[in-house]
Amino acid sequence: MAIITTKEMFKKAYDGGYAVGAFNINNMEIIQGVTEAAAELKSPLILQVSAGARKYARPAYLVALAHAACEDLGIDFALHLDHGADFAICKDCIDGGFSSVMIDYSGHSFEENIAESRKVAEYAHAHGVVVEAELGTLSGVEDDVKVSAEDSSYTRPEEVEEFVTRTGVDSLAIAIGTSHGAYKFTPEQCTRNADGVLVPPPLRFDILEEVAKRLPGFPIVLHGASSVPQEYVKEINSLGGQLPDAVGIPEEQLRKAATMAVCKINIDSDIRLAMTAGIRRVFNEKPSVFDPREYLKVARAEVKKMVSHKIKDVLGSEGKA
Ligand code: G3H
Ligand code: 13P
Ligand code: ZN
Repeated sequence: MAIITTKEMFKKAYDGGYAVGAFNINNMEIIQGVTEAAAELKSPLILQVSAGARKYARPAYLVALAHAACEDLGIDFALHLDHGADFAICKDCIDGGFSSVMIDYSGHSFEENIAESRKVAEYAHAHGVVVEAELGTLSGVEDDVKVSAEDSSYTRPEEVEEFVTRTGVDSLAIAIGTSHGAYKFTPEQCTRNADGVLVPPPLRFDILEEVAKRLPGFPIVLHGASSVPQEYVKEINSLGGQLPDAVGIPEEQLRKAATMAVCKINIDSDIRLAMTAGIRRVFNEKPSVFDPREYLKVARAEVKKMVSHKIKDVLGSEGKA
């Protein structure tokens, strides 16, 4: 059992009309919850690590824990760097045992994005590692960098062929209206349904279709794809949390994207919400608890439940490993 690249899994996902979940990992309980769900449901899987996660847990721990999960559960999965800011961090991860890296130079000019992405792709490919790059900018928060809705920009389909050809990257993240974090849209950007629940603006499937037409068979990635389930938001808020107007991407839109050219769907915020709800529940129901295992085991079970739901009901990747 091993850390593998996404090459084969993306080809199968593209042809099979489903997507592979890429779940952000920060500690042992998240790794266990995510990998146990994927193992039980025989789903392909990507574990991804942000720069913030590397700083929090330190790279050696996350890589060792990922290997432990492979061995313990007898599964293969990809280990991916999420939002690599430059060549240096990508190289560090390639040298450190990752099978996939993202170079995110989407905030730079088109030419700079091409130059840095190509440099990463050349180094990665020489080491058997695959590369994701990004065109277009998502709004929201990633690694403490906040991109406002005004500064975000949809991917321009007319740029994708030149970008992919000149960089040689293996997959492409595009901006079609998703956003990072638990506050993807302001109430002003949304409408309200009959129950008063915020309904976000629909994803730009026209852009996705146009990109897919220009890059036939090429794997597309969706970042900022948490759904921010309202039952978790409500539970957290009812137990002393303060997450007013948290809103995500409706799951039926993600399901539709997964049947199209989208082969990788990134989920982090929903894991955070599930863990937070579980931990608050334990503290509320059993105020005398102070053994971390008591609340972390509930958090881990919540991660597993969340990921199982994504695999079965959103990604369509059950039984595809
Ligand atoms: O895209 C951002 C991911 O959710 C990672 O978040 O930088 O807080 O680890 P983080
Ligand atoms: P969410 O914040 O929607 O979970 O997005 C995570 C992500 O895109 C990680 O790269
Ligand atoms: Zn992201």
